Amino acid sequence: MTASTLKTFGQQLSRRSWAEPWKIKAVEPIHMITQEERLRALGEAGYNTFLLRSEDVYIDLLTDSGTGAMSDRQWAGMMMGDESYAGSKNFYRLEGAVQNYYGYQHMVPTHQGRGAEHLLSQTAIKSGQYVPGNMYFTTTRLHHELAGGTFVDVIIDQAHDPNDEYPFKGNVDLDKLESLIKEVGAENIAYLSLAGTVNMAGGQPVSMANVRQLREICDRSGIRIFLDATRMVENAYFIQVQEDGYADKSIAEILKEFCSCTDGAWMSAKKDNLVNIGGWLAVNDFDLFDALRNLVVVYEGLHTYGGLAGRDMEALAIGIEEAVQDDHVRSRVGQVLYLGELLLDWKIPIVKPIGGHAIFLDARGFYPHIPQDQFPAQVLTAQLYLDSGVRAMERGNVSAGRDPQTGDHRYPALELTRLAIPRRVYTQAHMDVAAETVKTVHDARQQTSGLKMVYEPKNLRFFQARFEPLDMVGQHE
Ligand SMILES: Cc1ncc(COP(=O)(O)O)c(C=O)c1O
Repeated sequence: MTASTLKTFGQQLSRRSWAEPWKIKAVEPIHMITQEERLRALGEAGYNTFLLRSEDVYIDLLTDSGTGAMSDRQWAGMMMGDESYAGSKNFYRLEGAVQNYYGYQHMVPTHQGRGAEHLLSQTAIKSGQYVPGNMYFTTTRLHHELAGGTFVDVIIDQAHDPNDEYPFKGNVDLDKLESLIKEVGAENIAYLSLAGTVNMAGGQPVSMANVRQLREICDRSGIRIFLDATRMVENAYFIQVQEDGYADKSIAEILKEFCSCTDGAWMSAKKDNLVNIGGWLAVNDFDLFDALRNLVVVYEGLHTYGGLAGRDMEALAIGIEEAVQDDHVRSRVGQVLYLGELLLDWKIPIVKPIGGHAIFLDARGFYPHIPQDQFPAQVLTAQLYLDSGVRAMERGNVSAGRDPQTGDHRYPALELTRLAIPRRVYTQAHMDVAAETVKTVHDARQQTSGLKMVYEPKNLRFFQARFEPLDMVGQHE
């Protein structure tokens, strides 16, 4: 082999390579168990990757939630925890960071995102009201429903097509929103639930132009906009690189400008904000804040800690600042892009364009012969794990759950398997192994059959449901 036949990834694409803007200071050993052990582990987990033990997993792409690596500054901050019950100085640091980077005036900490969703839903939704949003998210919609609301999907149609390459597939369809307002009346709309990069659509962003138009419509109708800011930093990156007029603005500037078009936000800080646990809810309206800060003491803890230790709030305040650094975001989304470009080059069906936090495999494209009620995306998660211990997550029929009215599966248009990339954790070599796993499973796609759900919990069934391969069903009955 001559030296000129070997090429770095950058050289293959005729550009200079980039590298992660960090170096590794502590490592956590991982190893791959044998194929026989993986088969046993998966059977014990009821073919649900949520029920695997993490020590049986080699590369864990189940989620980017709470799985990131904290920086040395954040770990140092943990030692500065002020564990006073009330008025911890870390609370004020966190409040300042939210005000400074997201621009909202009042903030309540929560233990994680769904804690914030619960408080906002209970406070801002009246039973019988509608909550339009840019595609459902599992926990968000459930909290709308538990508060007596009905979620209405007003995302643009392109978001439901994995092959449509529109760059802002997270956008709200203005006509759908206006028709809903006309049909039910603005007073019957609790608020617009807007997510920055839409998880279930494939990590797709919302444009600045779209949020500005939404602001105008909502101002005309007196409807508030609350933002799921969980991955809004990544959304700001897509605006920077894809939307006219933003190339010279920093991620931090774009983030604040976007948030200024909304009335408040809730946050699962376990994603963009680079901590292993934490969340917050921030609004501009003092009366709403007053209600939220009263309710937080019922469910989470005093309004100056909301279920978090002082040290957690300190790490979170530092994480907020690190999260908006341009080189961090570029390499974070760049790693997702690296994996996605490999898969696209190998003609593997994935959601396009490549989103911010994960690669979403199109399970229908893998298994056109497996009907949706045999859970093709769940099958794909199982096959990836069996091949090499790579753990992914189902984001299809199982995640969508049942329609509360009809009791039937919801059969979503998108039947996806998500490979979510934890922040600052894995290297390019891990991405190569994951890509090769996907290719091996894709090559064997025709020999794969469906699953039967044999245990189904009532709420958020994807977390705890159990399955059996259809060719095994009956063996234990
Ligand atoms: C878009 C989005 N919103 C809300 C949540 C809920 O956050 P948490 O898991 O911290 O409760 C998640 C978690 O995955 C999410 O992805």
